[in-house]
Amino acid sequence: AKALSQLRPRQPPILRRHVVRAAPIHVSSVGARATSAVQGEVARAVPVEYHARTGINSRADYETLYNRSIQDPAGFWADLARQFHWEKPWRKDHMSFNFDRRKGQVSTTFFDGARTNICYNAVDRHIEQGRGSQPCFLWEGNDIGEDRVMTFSDVRDEVSRVANWLKSVGIGKGDSVAIYMPMVCELPIAMLACARIGAVHSVVFGGFSAESLSQRIADAKSKVVITASGGARAKKVVPLKQIADKAVQLAAGSGFQVENVLVYEHKSVPKGECAWTEGRDTWYQDAIPQQDRHCPVEWVDSEHPLFLLYTSGSTGNPKGVVHSTGGYMVSAATTTRYIFDLQPGDVYWCTADCGWITGHSYLAYGPLLCGAQSVIFEGVPNYPTPARCWQVVEKYKVRQFYTAPTLVRSLEAQDNKFVTQHDRSSLRILGTVGEPINPRAWMWFFETVGEGRCPIVDTWWQTETGAAMITPLPGAWPCLPGSATLPFFGVLPVILDDKGKELDGEAEGILGMKQAWPSTIRTVKGDHKRFEETYFSAFPGYYFTGDGCKRSADGQYTITGRVDDVINVSGHRVGTAEVEAALASHGACIEAAVVGFDHDIKGQGIYAYVTLHDGNDFSEDIRKDLVKTVREQIGAFAAPDVIHWAPGLPKTRSGKIMRRILRKIAVKKDDELGDTSTLADPGIVQGIIELRGK
Ligand code: WTA
Repeated sequence: AKALSQLRPRQPPILRRHVVRAAPIHVSSVGARATSAVQGEVARAVPVEYHARTGINSRADYETLYNRSIQDPAGFWADLARQFHWEKPWRKDHMSFNFDRRKGQVSTTFFDGARTNICYNAVDRHIEQGRGSQPCFLWEGNDIGEDRVMTFSDVRDEVSRVANWLKSVGIGKGDSVAIYMPMVCELPIAMLACARIGAVHSVVFGGFSAESLSQRIADAKSKVVITASGGARAKKVVPLKQIADKAVQLAAGSGFQVENVLVYEHKSVPKGECAWTEGRDTWYQDAIPQQDRHCPVEWVDSEHPLFLLYTSGSTGNPKGVVHSTGGYMVSAATTTRYIFDLQPGDVYWCTADCGWITGHSYLAYGPLLCGAQSVIFEGVPNYPTPARCWQVVEKYKVRQFYTAPTLVRSLEAQDNKFVTQHDRSSLRILGTVGEPINPRAWMWFFETVGEGRCPIVDTWWQTETGAAMITPLPGAWPCLPGSATLPFFGVLPVILDDKGKELDGEAEGILGMKQAWPSTIRTVKGDHKRFEETYFSAFPGYYFTGDGCKRSADGQYTITGRVDDVINVSGHRVGTAEVEAALASHGACIEAAVVGFDHDIKGQGIYAYVTLHDGNDFSEDIRKDLVKTVREQIGAFAAPDVIHWAPGLPKTRSGKIMRRILRKIAVKKDDELGDTSTLADPGIVQGIIELRGK
């Protein structure tokens, strides 16, 4: 075998060119995969007594509003939008959309003609209504005993200072700012500061590597990066500034120059331990307190882009999903209010990181727009003990708790005493998002955590949809463990067969959307054609979700998992193409193919088949080095769970990898491989099976 030092990645991914193809769809596999966690567990409807303050307390209440939202979406959404401040009103005919490429460019418009500002509506508006001294951020640090409360007035002042600093370094309307931060209050504050002046934020999750960050910085052309010296996750220190430095350097290598880096000093990495670039880097704690605490808001058109958020698809580089201002604001606020029955002053906790869409819509914007108190948790759920979440619930008297199924499963695996030792009587609503939840974990969450008192809202949605789309409303109809149940207002789902024909009544197929909702994805940054190809070409006339779905006779929707090559690991979307590209960049690897497999805690795990260049032996060292390469290029959460050596990959004569076969081999279902006659070399399959566990 070659020395490991010779096995360096051939090229950093930022220099590599990805070929973008239309998303492959394996309709035959609909329902065959992600639900297997659910299969074998019988779900029965669970009625829960809950009186919603929104006034939606029965399916009939819901249907009245739902029907109006579909028949007159422009009027329906306009009525909801009136609670906000609009500097200029919308035209009567404010809503339009085209989901059919054959009829012209795909587009969505809401509140056309209007001007507003989401920061004003999320923060200043509450101060004007007399809620300035009410807490809005309840920050809980990584270590027990570290906490901080910020009121709406505090947040407005700090947001304004950061906004003024951004202006001082030349950031204005439409410019993009990358944010790479731990979960401190300054993260949503940085987002709001951008929004205040019409700049476009691009938050990159702190778990991404330097390569991933540089790719996003260069694609979005973010001249300013806001980061921190470090971050704390349980006992681990994440050297964020060091990673950001490398990312900025990589971006420069690919021709994009970052001009300013604002660095928040985090106690995990003190000032003296940070490398510093004079003229480019600025300490947050030095520069921000000197700024004026007043900053006028910049009124922007409703369709002005609010943020970019990169997400993985089945092919190519991550896409910069673009969300608008007005439509996103109304969707985020309305869904938060109805789904979590959130009223001003409620203490609400969403455990998501701001680096993902859930953190954008349901930690930052949604709860703020509703005037709630939002818990921001910096740490991890099992540190210092698996009781941490329930200790936080008890400490702040959390009313609504929103999390991911993977967290539920990991805590379910622990002794129940960790839950029961803390008072959870404040809890009224529980929620999950990101992946299907299996009925067993659902029941544990319901009975052990919620004491049988709290409805669980299993919310289905995506980065691209901006807000929850299919979801129970608490108390309005019985919960169905493992099912997202009914479409939210204004959402018109369809179940399509593989030819794109709409199926009626009880059906199973691919989930599409027939009508635009306010927070519909508007485009992919810099590539409207890719946007149309990814979401509107599989089935002309419909938004393609990438998910399989079943609809019951009474109209309830149950998601069955992705139908494309996207893997959902602990609720994080991982594109197979990205992991394959990272593996293939390793000097020893000729080719790799990645599939998902059912994983007890993570929902899905990553299973990688790797073929090595001649002269490389399959060895533990190379295996470790391959995993390290993926960690470095994408982030630790994308590291393969299994590397399966392959003498070659099963391909059709046209060279397409048959992942269907690889998925079966991964779960040892060797007798269910199906038709292998179209393989260019059918013998390869046996060779792969023989190397299992080697
Ligand atoms: C999956 C997260 C089942 C789905 C907000 C979707 C779900 C992808 C659910 C989007 C749910 C999300 N039940 N599956 N309640 N919620 N998903 O973009 O496959 O990170 O397409 O957005 O997660 O992931 P994303």
